Amino acid sequence: MKFKKTLFAGIAVIAGASALLTSNMASAQKDWPTKNIQLVVPFAAGGPTDTIARLIAVPMGQALGQTVVVENVPGAGGTIASTKVARAAPDGYTIYIHHMGMATANALYDKLPYDPMTSFEYIGQVADVPMVLLGKKDLPANNFKELEAYIRANGSKVTMANAGPGAVSQLCGLLFQSRLGVRLTNIPYKGTGPALTDLLGGQVDLLCDQTTQTIPYIKDGRVKAFGTTTMKRLPAIPNVPTLNEQGLKGFEVKVWHGVYAPKGTPQPVLDKINAALKKALNTPDVKKRLEDSNIDIVPMDKVSAKGLKSHLESEINAWGPVIRKANIPD
Ligand code: MLT
Repeated sequence: MKFKKTLFAGIAVIAGASALLTSNMASAQKDWPTKNIQLVVPFAAGGPTDTIARLIAVPMGQALGQTVVVENVPGAGGTIASTKVARAAPDGYTIYIHHMGMATANALYDKLPYDPMTSFEYIGQVADVPMVLLGKKDLPANNFKELEAYIRANGSKVTMANAGPGAVSQLCGLLFQSRLGVRLTNIPYKGTGPALTDLLGGQVDLLCDQTTQTIPYIKDGRVKAFGTTTMKRLPAIPNVPTLNEQGLKGFEVKVWHGVYAPKGTPQPVLDKINAALKKALNTPDVKKRLEDSNIDIVPMDKVSAKGLKSHLESEINAWGPVIRKANIPD
């Protein structure tokens, strides 16, 4: 009898504690955010992903009433940051921006410590960024034809920078080499920010990079542009032909970006982050800055969990066979 009473009292205490916990969690979600939010970037500062992150961080912070702090976690083509975010507390104070490397890493690595389709919550797509095949200013080739001849004559003496396996610069560079049937000396960096610095300094010959910060360097001749990875020429650099029109038929790489959170982040918190992201993308400053670099903000219905998750899934399915066919090593 005594045992029964104690048991019932124990159950009542547990039920009370769990009701309190539920109500504390609900109020924490209602009050969120009460401190800075970390926006993890999987590449070095000064590169395309970092630039987009910093561009949206300020207006997102304004919308949320807290500072959104960018944290660069570079290395291994973005997979170090993805692992860190997948293991972070799902409390809304860690969010993540990554590009299509979230999809391509699946085919590039035998085993990842996270699953892009199950380890994250999806907040929304952000923007699509074109790429340009760039060369250092002193490279003795002035157009794509001359570049091809130079590469065929010099082979692995030609160096090409990238941001590691899983980075789009690596994907673009290796697809380019696979299409020419050559293998250059590929040099990994922690992001295309530092890679572009070395291209400008003449320490490396080639780099396939996003237009996020390369347009001014192309326009003032500090780097040579050999072709865009788009089907149409880019309005900001109309004199640069596409790789497609110069013989690499169908060569198209458009870099899409998404914002994620660790799996288990509460829905009310995800909804607030999504609303802040939408607001940031509709800010005139952000729109103008992206437009100037020929970057397309995605339609607002894609700035959603459904939009990002379904795009990620279709990109995993689309890139897997391309990467395997091109025999891109990890
Ligand atoms: C970066 O932000 O450095 C780039 O997005 C890296 C890449 O994927 O090439």
